[in-house]
Order: sequence, then structure tokens, then C-alpha cells
Amino acid sequence: MDSIGSAGLRQGEEALSYPEEGLPGPSDSSELVQECLQQFKVTRAQLQQIQASLLGSMEQALRGQASPTPAVRMLPTYVGSTPHGTEQGDFVVLELGATGASLRVLWVTLTGTEGHRVEPRSQEFVIPQEVMLGAGQQLFDFAAHCLSEFLDVQPVSKQGLQLGFSFSFPCHQTGLDRSTLISWTKGFRCSGVEGQDVVQLLRDAIQRHGAYNIDVVAVVNDTVGTMMGCELGARPCEVGLVVDTGTNACYMEEARHVAVLDEDRGRVCVSVEWGSFSDAGVLGPVLTTFDHTLDHESLNPGAQRFEKMIGGLYLGELVRLVLAHLARHGVLFGGGTSPALLSRGSILLEHVAEMEDPSAGAARVHAILQDLGLSPGASDVELVQHVCAAVCARAAQLCAAALAAVLSRLQHGREQQTLQVAVATGGRVCERHPRFCSILQGTVMLLAPECDVSFIPSADGGGQGVAMVTAVAARLAAHRRLLEETLAPFRLNHDQLAAVQAQMRKAMVKGLRGEASSLRMLPTFVRATPDGSERGDFLALDLGGTNFRVLLVRVTTGVQITSQIYSIPESVAQGSGQQLFDHIVDCIVDFQQKQGLSGQSLPLGFTFSFPCRQLGLDQGILLNWTKGFNASDCEGQDVVNLLREAITRRQAVELNVVAIVNDTVGTMMSCGYEDPRCEIGLIVGTGTNACYMEELRNVVGVPGDSGRMCINMEWGAFGDDGSLAMLSTCFDASVDQASINPGKQRFEKMISGMYLGEIVRHILLHLTSLGVLFRGQQTQCLQTRDIFKTKFLSEIESDSLALRQVRAILEDLGLPLTSDDALMVLEVCQAVSQRAAQLCGAGVAAVVEKIRENRGLEELAVSVGVDGTLYKLHPHFSSLVAATVRELAPRCVVTFLQSEDGSGKGAALVTAVACRLAQLTRV
Ligand code: G6P
Ligand code: BGC
Ligand code: BGC
Repeated sequence: MDSIGSAGLRQGEEALSYPEEGLPGPSDSSELVQECLQQFKVTRAQLQQIQASLLGSMEQALRGQASPTPAVRMLPTYVGSTPHGTEQGDFVVLELGATGASLRVLWVTLTGTEGHRVEPRSQEFVIPQEVMLGAGQQLFDFAAHCLSEFLDVQPVSKQGLQLGFSFSFPCHQTGLDRSTLISWTKGFRCSGVEGQDVVQLLRDAIQRHGAYNIDVVAVVNDTVGTMMGCELGARPCEVGLVVDTGTNACYMEEARHVAVLDEDRGRVCVSVEWGSFSDAGVLGPVLTTFDHTLDHESLNPGAQRFEKMIGGLYLGELVRLVLAHLARHGVLFGGGTSPALLSRGSILLEHVAEMEDPSAGAARVHAILQDLGLSPGASDVELVQHVCAAVCARAAQLCAAALAAVLSRLQHGREQQTLQVAVATGGRVCERHPRFCSILQGTVMLLAPECDVSFIPSADGGGQGVAMVTAVAARLAAHRRLLEETLAPFRLNHDQLAAVQAQMRKAMVKGLRGEASSLRMLPTFVRATPDGSERGDFLALDLGGTNFRVLLVRVTTGVQITSQIYSIPESVAQGSGQQLFDHIVDCIVDFQQKQGLSGQSLPLGFTFSFPCRQLGLDQGILLNWTKGFNASDCEGQDVVNLLREAITRRQAVELNVVAIVNDTVGTMMSCGYEDPRCEIGLIVGTGTNACYMEELRNVVGVPGDSGRMCINMEWGAFGDDGSLAMLSTCFDASVDQASINPGKQRFEKMISGMYLGEIVRHILLHLTSLGVLFRGQQTQCLQTRDIFKTKFLSEIESDSLALRQVRAILEDLGLPLTSDDALMVLEVCQAVSQRAAQLCGAGVAAVVEKIRENRGLEELAVSVGVDGTLYKLHPHFSSLVAATVRELAPRCVVTFLQSEDGSGKGAALVTAVACRLAQLTRV
């Protein structure tokens, strides 16, 4: 066996040995001693195997591979970066679980200035044994009691205190302030805590206690506190090692390697929880009979086998078991034992440390043994020192193997040949056992020769580090509050939505009566949906949405469509009217040529998606432009005339314009061709609007009292009389002000695709100015109007998109953001689109209820034909609209049909119906 300490080792390897000179000479008793001590020897090969196996388990756990169960947990914390040194403020720190049966409370002041450290004030409390093993509530009540006892003598206010909770047990964290205890370790076994959020338990206890108003802001493992509290040095401190009652380490892992996180950038601190490492193949050969006895008698037999060879809670006990064994066999104390030597827990870590320390001298060892009721002779003292040294040396070597595994992992993760790293060390074993540290360091050098490691002892048991994390968490919590406050006005409750529905209903009635109303309720002269007997070839134009289209629609037993998209440059949309209509005619001519239709004068239906007052099917006076259009000299003109004039200017073509149709009407007709119950048309695209079949008797201004007529509500203008003021936010006001039609289309500006991206952009600007987003840095990009397209909302909110893709989308826009930023941007998008969908739903609810009442029905079954990019592309918009309608109009069964062919088809169908009717009258 390649036993450590044997001759012929390279320089530095001697750190792996411990003194053997002076052991009793060869005899029976010395054989027993040798045999005993030999068990604690670990060979270099064994250490290397442990290192390799642990590394394998770590990497398996990182990959999220559950089978076979990884031997270490690799728990991601929510700490994403090592301290900047700029954190500041006063924090209360509560430490539970690191150091034996004690609990520590600290008052830590962070100055925000590097190198300027204020000594924390602290107080330690002993946790009674019955509390450590009692009910969980008792433990947390005890903690709350200690907190107020400590704070009572500090010159601090009772309000608004921020607390960082150092809780040193394996926990699943789901946030900086959410952490579920997986299992107790060390000497704790309180009931009812495993599987619970320990932060909540602490909060509840503090509240029960009632003395102080303390906000528990963050929870961390002691290793994380140790790492985060490390003085900023030349090299980054990216590993925290604790050897106290128990043992563990944390380190900064590349986030992309942590499968459970779904993150591709940055780093995250991972707590290895190596105490539970239990590969029987590599640990079996190192486990002694004493380890087995110790495990058997522990609170958690079979668990934390690795920790039980290293942690301070167990070192004294291992020494005791060896001494008792040797005494029983007559090798020590003349074969005498004492009740203390035979009782569990009588030798503590402090005793081992002192006895092992060569400078302590025989007298001290003597005294300790006497206190245990033993009468040691001179050779006993020496042998006891050897036993202590053997147990501690093994602990340090095993700990080194584990640390070497972490260093190898860091090196793999960073893909670096050599690694320069600082390891913050903490815990009583590290702090008070100089030999432990030197053996640890020497062994690490041997096992990870390619790593250049400096060890930095933590100054105050990690309290500073916990405060650092708390400072960051407090900042994030403050940001979240600001985010919530900002988004609160977008979150509409049932009453608010019902009020919108009621107002809409009132405005509809007034509009139909010709009274002042923000809803114009324009008659369309469409009186019936198609009956299937329409036939012929028709031309259609479709202007006003994302695309301008020219279509050839062949209506036989079905409908066949050939179409082409043409662009309308912004300069044309906002130039002169003549230019716009000439451009339209040019596109028609081009289309006719391509389709071989030149010279034919097909009946034409014109989908024109702007508010028009119609005096007949083929007459529509443009009331005002909306969306991105603003061509001059068109408002107040008959659009069909403008088109005819352009045709005349162009001379070469003859066109027979039969009908002008709003896109809502086109959509309703198009869907109505498939489903006769479709009596509503809804558009949620660039703009938004709805039309529906109203009883003619309710429509003032159109002769006749029987039958129905389709009414173009022009609901985009709803609220232009100020009736939506209650719901309008400052962001809506900014979007409105910057638009080409301030004060107009207020409902549309809260709902439709042309504006949602802008609302989001304004919110992001505001959150940046508050320092909540993008580290408070305003970018040129975000200042640019329309940079944030509404399609981004659809993409960002898509369920299949991971947060990392959200980031990619925003980074393409030149917005470099953290994952916290990405999450907040997502929430902003959700709030804005949810409000849009709910407002739209409230509108539809008003419409269906009106139809139901018009017809005096208990229940109405009706279909809505829908079109528009936002409605179709957004992952949740349609279901939110439907849910709102169900809530606000429970007596209506509403089916939403998505129009597949656009409203051009509907315009052709309106034209077809008109031609059929015209033929009938001619006959
Ligand atoms: C329909 C039409 C367009 C209409 C559009 C709304 O299908 O054919 O004329 O305006 O949908 O959608 P958009 O998202 O393009 O504004
Ligand atoms: C715990 C770890 C802790 C370590 C050191 C172990 O028992 O499981 O969470 O970091 O002790 O205190
Ligand atoms: C127009 C409507 C149109 C809607 C959807 C609004 O801006 O005023 O006429 O139906 O957009 O395209």
C-alpha cells in the first residue's frame, strides 16, 4: 500500500504524514496501538480516489442526473456574484447551525468602502439540548427571543430592521429569502421543520414574539457567508470552506452548467453539501471501526458519513472511542476507564485541539484527562496526543481531497489549464487548529498541483458575508416593491372590468341614438351574412392593417383567393391623399397584369380599416385617420370617390367599386360564411375595433325598423370623452402624447399592437430611472420610439421560451441585462398584455350582453370572428379575452373563430351579396 508518510515522497508530501516517532516499542500493546492508528491512515491513492469520485458526483448532480442518486447535493444558492465592496447599511445577522449548540446574533455595519471595516457587535446564546431535539416552533421561538434580547441592548430602532439568516443545513433554495430544509444534520433534530421554509418559520416566530419589526431578507449557508465576507484581495475569492461542527464548501459555478437553473450566463454560488458524500467504494476502505460505532450511535445513522470523519462535532467522539478501546485493552491508563470516558460526548473538539497541540505541553493533556476522571501516566499522555493527531490529520486530509475536487471542478468549469483562486476558510476547526490548516493546505497542493490557491481565514465567522448577501437581497426586494407599485395600476380587478363593460354599454346606446358618445356606432349597410348562393369573381383591396393586399376572390361553391401584399411606405401613409390613392391604384394595376386580369372590370370590395360614415354600401366618408396613417386631404372625403378619382387619373383601368367595408365587418362576413352564428367581428391587431349585428329599430338615422344591420362600433375611440381616465396610467398618457393623434383612440392605445410595445418601453424607462432595471443606466436604445415592438411581447411571453431567450431578444435590442432584469421585463410585458386582453374582453362582454338583451334571450350562443396579429400571435391574449367574457357575461356562450383569410375575403363576400341583390332587383 502506498502509505502516506512512507519514505521517498516528494517535497511537500510530508504534510500528509504525522509524527510516529516515540510510539511505544514493539509489544502486544504496541501492535494494538499500531493497528488502531493505522486505521486512520489514508493513502494518497485513496485520497485521489475520493477526490475523483466526489468530482464525478458533483458533475453528475450539476447535470441534474438523478440516477444513480448523486452522492452530493450541489444546491444552487441565489447568490450570483461575489461582493462589489459597495454594499452598505446596518444589518442583523442570525446564525444557526454552524457552531454546535449555539446561536449567534450580530449587528453588522457595511460601510460601502473597501478596506473600511466596522467590527460587528455580537452575542452568543447556548441552545438548550431539549430545544435542539424538540419541536421546530420552539427552536424558532428561541431564536426570536435571542434576537430581541440582543437588540434590546443595542442602540437601534425597533422598526424596519433587515435580517440575514445564516442557516447551516442542507436546504433547497427557491429565492434569496426562500429555503426549504432538506434534512437536519449535526446535533439538531427538531420536529416539523424538514420540508418547511425556514425563513417563513423564522418570520412567524418573530411576529409571535412581537417585540421587533424585522424583515428577514436573505437566507444563506455558512459557507456562502464565509465566501462573501472574504476581504477583497488581488484574486477573486470564489470558494468558501467551513469546518466547524460540520463541514461543507460552496463555490462559484458557471450558471450554464447548473441544469436546474436554466441560465446561460454568469455564475451562481453552489453549496456542495459534501458532508453527505457517501460513495461506499472509496469511503469504505477509509472507514474505521470507530467511525462505524460513531455513526451507529449518532442522531442520524447512515447519513453524513463523510462529515462524521471531518466535522468538529465528531472529532472528539472519535478520539474518545479510540481511547476507550485502548483503555479497555489495557494499553492506556493501566487498563482503567472512567464513567466520563465511557459516556458519549465527553471529549469535545476543544479538548482534542488542545491535546493535539504540541505546544500545549504534557501538563495540559494531563489535566484534561484527569478532568475525565482518568489517571494518565507519562506514556499515556504521549499516546493520547498521537491519537488526537491521527484523527485530526485524517480529517484534514479528507477535507483536502474534497476541496481538491471543488478546485478541479472550478478548473473544468472555466476550461482553464491552471487556476488561481482564493479560498475563504471558516469554522472553529479551521480557525483554532493550526495543524489542521497546514495539513489541509499541504494536501491540497499535492492533490491539485495545477491550482494556485491562497487560503484566507474569514474574519468574523461569516457575519460580514451574510450581511453582504442581505444588502443585495434588500436591494432586490426594494426593486420588487417598486416594480409591483409600478404595475399595480395595470392589474384590473373584477369591479373595474365590470365598470368598463357598463360604460361601454352606455356609450353604445348613446352612439346608436346619435347622442354625444365616444362610440360612433357607424351603420355599415351590411344587413345579412352570406347565404352561400353568391357566385362570381371579385377584386378586393385590404388597407389599414400590417399589410396592404390586393386580392382576387373566386366565389363558387367555396372561396378561392389569390392575393399579393404590397408595401405602403410611411412617407405615402403620411403624405398627400392623392399620392396614397395613386399608389393604391398602381398596385391594383400591377396585380391585374400579373393575374392576367387587365382590361376586365371586376366588381371590387374595399376593406378600408378606418372610421367611415357610410351613407350606403359604396360610400364612406373618412372621419379621421387612425393608427400610422395621416395622409392629407382625405378626412371628410368619400374614400370610394378618392379611389375612383385616382382610377380616372390613371385612365388605363376601369374598376367597379361596389362596397367599402371595415376590417371588422370583413372579418365577421368571412367567418360568417363558415358559421352562420357569427354576428360579431373583432380586430386586435395594429388597431382594435368591433362590429356586430344590431336591431335596425335601435339605429337612429337609418330608415326602417325591422331586420338588423351590422354596426361598426369604432371602439378604439372609446374613452376619448375622458371616461377611461380612471384606468389610464402615466405611461398611457406618455404614449398618447407622443402619438400622431393625441387624445384620440384612447381605448385602442391601451389594447392594440401599435401601442403595447410603446407602453412597455415607457415602463422600462421609468423602472430604469428608479434604478430597478439595467442597473439604472439609461440606454440610447430604450429612448428610441417604437424600438420595442409588440411582437416582442408575444415572443417574450411565449411559454416555451426560457428566460435566457428573453434575454437574447432584449440583448438584440442592445439592452444588456441580468437574469433579474429579464424576469422583470417579462412581468412588465405580462401586466401590459393582460390588461389589454381584459379590456378587450370587457368590450366583447358589453356587446354580447347587448345582443342577448336585444333579443330578449335568457341565454345567447354567438360566435365572434376575430383577426389581427396581436390576437393571433400572442400566446395568452385569446384565452384571457375569453376568460374575461365568461366572467363578465356569464349568460352568453361565446365562441371565438379566428379568421384565416383576412377581411379581404369578407369584403369580396359583401360585394358578392350586393351584386346578387342588385341582380335580383334588376330581374
Ligand atoms: C385582417 C385584415 C386587415 C386588418 C387586420 C388587422 O385580417 O385583412 O385589413 O386590418 O386583419 O390585423 P393587423 O394586425 O394587420 O392590424
Ligand atoms: C451542513 C452544511 C453546513 C456545514 C457546515 C453541514 O452539516 O449540512 O449546510 O454548511 O455543516 O456548517
Ligand atoms: C380603426 C378601425 C379598425 C381598427 C382595426 C382602428 O384604428 O379606426 O376602423 O377597424 O383600427 O384595424
